[in-house]
Amino acid sequence: MRKKIVVGNWKMNNTIAESIELATEIAEKVGTGIICCEVGIAPTFLALHEVGKVIEWSDIRLSAQNCHYENDGAFTGEVSARMLQSAGCSYVILGHSERRQFFGESSAIVNRKVKKALAEGLKVILCVGETLQEREAGITESVITGQVVEGLDGVSDISNVVIAYEPVWAIGTGKTATSAQAEEVHASIRATVAGLYDATAADHLRIQYGGSVKPSNAVELFSMPNIDGGLIGGASLNAEDFMAIIKAAC
Ligand code: PGA
Repeated sequence: MRKKIVVGNWKMNNTIAESIELATEIAEKVGTGIICCEVGIAPTFLALHEVGKVIEWSDIRLSAQNCHYENDGAFTGEVSARMLQSAGCSYVILGHSERRQFFGESSAIVNRKVKKALAEGLKVILCVGETLQEREAGITESVITGQVVEGLDGVSDISNVVIAYEPVWAIGTGKTATSAQAEEVHASIRATVAGLYDATAADHLRIQYGGSVKPSNAVELFSMPNIDGGLIGGASLNAEDFMAIIKAAC
């Protein structure tokens, strides 16, 4: 039985003070002893350390939204996996479509980041997703398979990897993939992973859905056999909505 995982991706929102406030509110709601699912929040880099202290007593895991593929060096403006470790992170989100779209991250770059983050002891949430044009052209499955294969290239052990399927056309748009559409892609990701690794690895792999998940659609999405929780953007900025989504995973 896979333990579901719900992670709030705060994106470029909240100052340090606002992040602490929201994290405190979420920690009070989540508390300890949540056994039905794993919960994480991914604030801005700047607030990671402080938020880590605020949620330390709770079951919430700290996640970053990105990292570089080297540990240190002349990479102005970048943050490394080793630094994230030192800030108390358990997870890092990699290959988010906003990184791919707006910051030119190719699957090859994402793959280097995945390998470095895992080597540094972080757990990785590897994001994949097709654009609207790709879906309309009927190439969703090949696009996603390509992103999974390239993202995991050279990764021998995926026990610390979570995959997040996030159709680009559903992110922040209010449009959600239907549970059937999402389930179809999730099942195909699991089959791809079974081919790359083995049936046991595929069976253990958690595949989150992301893209306009809200309290009103979370129950249905999370009830699908291959949907193991969610990566939540907008709705994770409100403690009540985020908690309702966590409950939907239970
Ligand atoms: P959204 O974002 O829930 O605001 O659509 C999801 C994500 O990008 O992780």
